[in-house]
Amino acid sequence: MASLAGKIAVITGSTSGIGRGIAEHFASLGARVVIHGRNEAQAREAVERLSRDGHDAAFVIADLADVTACRRVVRFAIERYGGVDVLVNNAASTARGYLEDAPVELWDAIMHVNLRAPFLCLQEAVKSMRTRGGGSIVNIGSVNAYIGEPKLGPYSVSKGGLMTMTRNAAATLNRYRVRVNQINVGWTLTEGEERVKQQEGKGKEWLPEAIATRPFGRLLAPRDVALAAAYFASDDSAAVTGSVMDLEQYPVGAPPNW
Ligand SMILES: NC(=O)c1ccc[n+]([C@@H]2O[C@H](COP(=O)([O-])OP(=O)(O)OC[C@H]3O[C@@H](n4cnc5c(N)ncnc54)[C@H](O)[C@@H]3O)[C@@H](O)[C@H]2O)c1
Repeated sequence: MASLAGKIAVITGSTSGIGRGIAEHFASLGARVVIHGRNEAQAREAVERLSRDGHDAAFVIADLADVTACRRVVRFAIERYGGVDVLVNNAASTARGYLEDAPVELWDAIMHVNLRAPFLCLQEAVKSMRTRGGGSIVNIGSVNAYIGEPKLGPYSVSKGGLMTMTRNAAATLNRYRVRVNQINVGWTLTEGEERVKQQEGKGKEWLPEAIATRPFGRLLAPRDVALAAAYFASDDSAAVTGSVMDLEQYPVGAPPNW
């Protein structure tokens, strides 16, 4: 099992879903964890739970659509713990929209959270990582980056852009021993995913129907992503940068639930 003992990790969007799974797993591996969210009650609850289990955690509230707030998330970790070793860019807007008629406001909102915020957090984190002799940035992407479901047009483009940022940053930041890798996540069962299905008016049958299309007979769980993220965050992957790991990738161009 990877060790994150002594590492300071910032995980955006970690009050629920995949981000929370990553934060809890990182804490269990010895990391000091900064929880980020928009809802203070949720963030406080997440930190209290980690503290009860004997872990060191703190929370910061920020809307990542805002430039200053993005920088503040990473600066909070530096003020609280003295630096940043690991940044996980997990928060994202999964708003639906077709490219042919998505309003420009939707496009902008998605790009701000899914692409600009990771860029800004990366900039802030690298300042600290340089002084600490290195670090690891893990970007949470989606298998939609390759083509994407039609109804997830702008979202899919944002995740493709994130993949380019991962590889570009990896190429330039290796001089500081800062590694940058990406996990392209497949369909994962989270509270957010269940909420979206409810909003789409789907009944309870959506889950078995979804599972029937999946290669492993289940949807992914936050822990599947957390295990992969721990590998990239830890020194187990000390020689790995610019890498993209696909979880549950379907053949490019032929998603089974198209
Ligand atoms: N669940 C899936 O099936 C799936 C599939 C592929 C990729 N992913 C990716 O995994 C990551 C986590 O997704 P999840 O399923 O846990 O979703 P989720 O909706 O539960 O979590 C997303 C997080 O991002 C935060 N966020 C969104 N907009 C924000 C903003 N403006 N400011 C601050 N925070 C904001 C939300 O508050 C939430 O905490 C995302 O990057 C998502 O694109 C998820």
